[in-house]
Amino acid sequence: MKTARPGILVIDDETAICELFSRFLTDSGFEVKTAVSLAEARALITARSFDAVILDQFLADGTGMDFIGELRTAGPDMAIIMITGHGDIPLAVEAMQRGADNFLAKPVRLSDLKVIVQKSLEVGVLKRTSRACQVLGARTRPDFGSSPAMRSVMEVAGLASDSEAPLLITGETGAGKGVLARWIHDNGNRSASLFVEVNCSALRGELLASELFGHARGAFTSAVQDRQGLLDVANGGTLLLDEIGDMDIAIQAQFLKVIEDKTYRRLGEVKERKSNFRLICATNKDLEAEAAQGRFRKDLLYRIQVLPVRIPPLRERCDDIPGLVRQLLAFLNYQYRDVDRSVLSLLESYPWPGNVRELRNVLERAMLLSRGKALEPPHFPGLSQPAAFAAANERIKDLERVEMESIRAALDRCGGDVNKTAEALGVSRATIFRRLKKYQRAIQ
Ligand SMILES: Nc1ncnc2c1ncn2[C@@H]1O[C@H](COP(=O)(O)OP(=O)(O)OP(=O)(O)O)[C@@H](O)[C@H]1O
Ligand SMILES: [Mg+2]
Repeated sequence: MKTARPGILVIDDETAICELFSRFLTDSGFEVKTAVSLAEARALITARSFDAVILDQFLADGTGMDFIGELRTAGPDMAIIMITGHGDIPLAVEAMQRGADNFLAKPVRLSDLKVIVQKSLEVGVLKRTSRACQVLGARTRPDFGSSPAMRSVMEVAGLASDSEAPLLITGETGAGKGVLARWIHDNGNRSASLFVEVNCSALRGELLASELFGHARGAFTSAVQDRQGLLDVANGGTLLLDEIGDMDIAIQAQFLKVIEDKTYRRLGEVKERKSNFRLICATNKDLEAEAAQGRFRKDLLYRIQVLPVRIPPLRERCDDIPGLVRQLLAFLNYQYRDVDRSVLSLLESYPWPGNVRELRNVLERAMLLSRGKALEPPHFPGLSQPAAFAAANERIKDLERVEMESIRAALDRCGGDVNKTAEALGVSRATIFRRLKKYQRAIQ
């Protein structure tokens, strides 16, 4: 455990130097340990962590220079200060190249020592902060699932995030089209700009046009002032047109023009405006079928589906359920590490018409019902039993049917002789009688 005072390790073969530095640094508010050899230093750094190490060049069991790499591996953020001979610039340079943060030339002045240690500790803090930023900024992939179907979806999504081509995401409701669109934006080179989402089914006709293109004052009765359109807001970023299958055919024609030359006009305005947005469309409709029925423009469809991605429904990728369950439960702060197999089996046997959205809701409800205890099948009322049992019952009935048919066929072949039939099927006479009785009961 690190103490509140920064921990410093002094590695020097001269005990007098170790003692001098130790006393001075302790008085300056640090917690100090000393080592007179690399072996001793190694033992100390494996036992605990240090904020800074002051390292001499020549030690009985090796050079400080060669030890820098090992120190860096042990503590990536640890400040490493190399002590060099007077005027030995090449050594100082080499030390820095190997990962030291600073150097002190002999004879070391104690006032210098304090300043250099403090400066180097600040570097350590900066390194930690920048590492945290790197981690936050790294391309993270939410668990969309690792089934072969989802792996190929994510392959296209990975390519799509670096591309400017329009993308069409299809899939049933709740499959995660919106989540995937957001992921693509966050992982592409437009991530610093806005992700603008428009639901085409919520806004009809002129309302959608006015949202997208904006309007000039007086364009229509309620247009009391100029209004920026969402195309403008999405300039430099990503525009997600959700439920594009519900876009009115008149707006489709206007929008096609926008995609073709990236220019548009606000309602009631003649001036042409430009917007450089990346387009992602999402729908749970079959747009080919809609186009065949004349409800969706074919030319628009060809424009928006340069990169088509279909998210398969959850029931077609049961393999993804355990991973998704784990991820969703972690998000919901579920405190247990594992989910019981009986629960997973239950979830895997349900057809999930509402897909991941429904899975999330069901898990949320189950957590409420379990009152902080580990999840068990009774926490999922109504979900599964009927469906799972019905499926199992069907399978049992199928087996019984097959069994009866083979007994009847064998009886026919053996001219109705039960002894011969039992022998031919390799079962006892009693079994044949029992089955026949059951069959008779079933057909009465
Ligand atoms: N991969 C995922 N990881 C975690 N949660 C997810 C994932 N996919 C979907 N969800 C959950 O399901 C909800 C619905 O997802 P989303 O809105 O992306 O679905 P959709 O396919 O756009 O559905 P709709 O067609 O109804 O708009 C999300 O709010 C989220 O809670
Ligand atoms: Mg959606």
